[in-house]
Amino acid sequence: MRIAIGNDHAATEMKQDIASYLEKLGHTVINVGTDDTLSVDYPVIAKEVCDLVAEGKCEKGILICGTGIGMSMAANKIKGIRAACCSDPVCVRLTREHNDANVLTFGARIVGSVMAEEMVRVFVETEFAGGRHQKRVELIAQLEGK
Ligand code: RB5
Repeated sequence: MRIAIGNDHAATEMKQDIASYLEKLGHTVINVGTDDTLSVDYPVIAKEVCDLVAEGKCEKGILICGTGIGMSMAANKIKGIRAACCSDPVCVRLTREHNDANVLTFGARIVGSVMAEEMVRVFVETEFAGGRHQKRVELIAQLEGK
């Protein structure tokens, strides 16, 4: 799977660890950065990652900031993006199954590295359940631009 990953200065080390982990699992990682610890604006990074997903250049995106919250707010402004801010693998599984989340966000200041790896593994491996959830995801899309 091609996965776009981005972060701000609060999450540089976590992003690097997660990118390596995804590569170890056999995925292709598109690193949008930053790879520095100098302050950057997370909405800029969120847009870059989400554009890759929305345009079909990557199947999924991962965004990491201090809390994961700012990244999710920015990501969900972009048409076609269903971003979920999670801090445990159960929510990650359910947002894949029920909401067909195509972007996962989380906070490097909130979750530890073992938790983050498991969340990411679940995010890339869990399929959308479809069925009764399909119509609801379509209803989310109808809210775009309203
Ligand atoms: C940066 O200090 C911090 O505000 C950012 O990483 C993120 O947590 C925003 O939601």
